Amino acid sequence: PPLCPRPVPPPAERPPPHAPPRPFPGRTGADSRGCRELRIGTRRRHPSAGSHTVVLLLEGGYDVVVVDNLNNASPRVEGRILELVGEEAGKRLDVRVMDLLDEPRLAALCAEKKFDSCIHFAGYKAVGESVEKPLAYYRNNIVSTLNVVECLQAHGCKSIIFSGSCTVYGNPKDVPIHEGSDLEAINPYGRTKLYQEEMFRDLCVSDDAWEVSLLRYFNPVAAHPSGRLGEDPKGIPNNLMPYVQQVAVGRRAELSVFGNDYPTPDGTGVRDYIHVMDLAEGHAAAVDKILAAGGKLGCVAYNLGTGNGTSVLEIVKAFSAACGKEIPYKFAPRRPGDATAVYATPSFAEQELGWKATRTLEDMCRDQWNWASNNPYGYEGKPEEN
Ligand code: UD1
Repeated sequence: PPLCPRPVPPPAERPPPHAPPRPFPGRTGADSRGCRELRIGTRRRHPSAGSHTVVLLLEGGYDVVVVDNLNNASPRVEGRILELVGEEAGKRLDVRVMDLLDEPRLAALCAEKKFDSCIHFAGYKAVGESVEKPLAYYRNNIVSTLNVVECLQAHGCKSIIFSGSCTVYGNPKDVPIHEGSDLEAINPYGRTKLYQEEMFRDLCVSDDAWEVSLLRYFNPVAAHPSGRLGEDPKGIPNNLMPYVQQVAVGRRAELSVFGNDYPTPDGTGVRDYIHVMDLAEGHAAAVDKILAAGGKLGCVAYNLGTGNGTSVLEIVKAFSAACGKEIPYKFAPRRPGDATAVYATPSFAEQELGWKATRTLEDMCRDQWNWASNNPYGYEGKPEEN
């Protein structure tokens, strides 16, 4: 496939991938257990949000336990994380291949580790698939979350950061969306996300020692600036950015733009795209907050978005500029269930977490392309090379 002409430095010469490690309040003082993170490897909200967050947590001094069933993740990710964080920090990473539906094994892990907190990234996330296989969605998303919560609680941890979604706002009546906007689920996937949120709210009412941060992601895109971590969806991508990326590297002929008759400036759908590094920093900020709250946080939802609405055609244009070639596209009918415009008011997260997305659309497209051009077939390489 045609690749970007940009020269790629060999690993040893790569610049430090991102900001220097941040101090985490949860790691100062006498407590040396650190934060352990749990996730499952099946179609997550953004299949690389977990790995990017793990890098930040390791750099921040945490001990991190990753739980992944490798259903939709490559075993090679662990090696890339170790490469980025270095040998010393890498010693604090413990990866367990395990399914969160396997409650006895999960309970044994919680008993062994005595977690301080948990970031729960896991879950199926394809809307169309959820309509076809609702029971698989309810079982995987809801039962796994129940298992996580019950196992944590049984072993003394009442603190969780949950990968929520802006899907809980359904088809928003007004934008930008704030955390108090009406909640509505419009497909089985969205219902699993909303029901999980409701479960956490009920839990916190029943027991005020529980602390839950619901992170409502908008549209995560891009990749680690090193080009070593990124999204690697299996099969035909459902989401816009991975599809555009596959067109750019020549794996797909053209993009179908779903609808050009929306009441938006250029007629195409508008979303709040957020760089996965900003998203990872949002998780780190949520970890700081929850560990510093001392049992007083309760259940709080935060929008993790940029506050900027970007249309499909604006994405195509920005990505073309980043990769230096035109992205062929055609207009196609609207995709059923798509909203016109969905973007956040992120001010609550800024106020409460001291976190703000800082990366621009250009940054997102540059890092997405850097990942795509270095890994045109994801982590596994071109099929016949394996
Ligand atoms: C979708 C889900 C959302 C889920 C999220 C996961 C739907 C209706 N919503 O969000 O619930 O949380 O993925 O990341 O599926 N587009 C094209 N061509 C494509 C793909 C997308 O034009 O090939 C357009 C869409 O119509 C939309 C925009 O690009 O306007 C973004 O689409 P996508 O990346 O799939 O995200 P969402 O639909 O916002």
